[in-house]
Amino acid sequence: MSLINENIITFSKGDPNNQPILFVHGFPFDHTMWKNQINELSSQYFCVSYDIRGLGESPVGDGQYTMEMFVDDLFSVIEHMKLNKPVLCGLSMGGYIAQRAVERNEKLFKALILCDTKSEPDNNDAKLKRAGGIKSINESGVKSFVHAFIPNCFEEESIIKLGDVYKEILERSSNFSATGIKGCLLAMISRTDTTEFLSEIKIPVLVVCGEKDKLAPPHIMEPIAETIIDSEFHIIPGAGHMTPLENPEAVNKVLKYFLSRVFK
Ligand code: MLT
Repeated sequence: MSLINENIITFSKGDPNNQPILFVHGFPFDHTMWKNQINELSSQYFCVSYDIRGLGESPVGDGQYTMEMFVDDLFSVIEHMKLNKPVLCGLSMGGYIAQRAVERNEKLFKALILCDTKSEPDNNDAKLKRAGGIKSINESGVKSFVHAFIPNCFEEESIIKLGDVYKEILERSSNFSATGIKGCLLAMISRTDTTEFLSEIKIPVLVVCGEKDKLAPPHIMEPIAETIIDSEFHIIPGAGHMTPLENPEAVNKVLKYFLSRVFK
C-alpha cells in the first residue's frame, strides 16, 4: 500500500516485472471490488488498484472533485507505480474515468477493459437523481444513501448468494465519508460524453456487461462494443451491475482470454 500525491492510496499484487493491469473501481465502492480478479490474475500479471479520492482509504480532501481530476489521479498512479503501458480496466464510474483517460492519452495504454459502464454523460433525469442523492446524504447520512443505492447494483439472487460478503460491502461503503461520496456524485455529473471518441479508439477493447445490469444494461453496452474497431463483447450470465463480484468465474474467464490475446 502506498500514498501518492496526497490523494490516492494504491495497492499492488504480483511481480512488477510482469505486464501491468490497472483496475479502477465503481461507485460507491473501493479497490476491494476487484479482489477475485486480482487473486486470479496476479500470478501472471502485475495487478495495481487504488481507491478513488474520497472513497475507501484514500484521503477525502475538500470534496470538490471533477472527472478530469479523477483522470489526473489515474495518470499519477501510472507515473508513481512506473506502469509501462498497463491494460486499463474500469467498472461503471471506473469506466467513465478509463474512457476519458484513453481519450486524453491513448498511447499510455496497451488495452482497455470496460465493465458495466456508459459513454454518455448524465441526462437531466440522472442529474436530478444525483442531486437527490446529495440531499438525502445531507438529511439522512451516508448509510441510508448507500443502503438505497447498492441493492440496485446487484441482482437479487447474487445478494442472497453473496450473503456475508454482500453485508460486508454494505458496511464498508456505509462508513465512507459523506464529503467523499457527494464529491464523487458531482464528479460524475461533470463528466463529458465519450461516445464520439469510441470509434477513434485503436487499442483492443474488451466490453463486459452483466446480463441483468439495471444501470448499464446490455442494450447500452453492446453498441459501445460495436462502435469500437477492435473490440469483444461478453455478457456475464446471472449478474447485475457488479459483474466482478457477482460472477467472478465468468469475468475471470473472459479477462484471461482477452489478456492472452493482447499479450500474445
Ligand atoms: C457505479 O457503479 O460506478 C455507478 O453506478 C455509476 C453511476 O452512478 O453512474
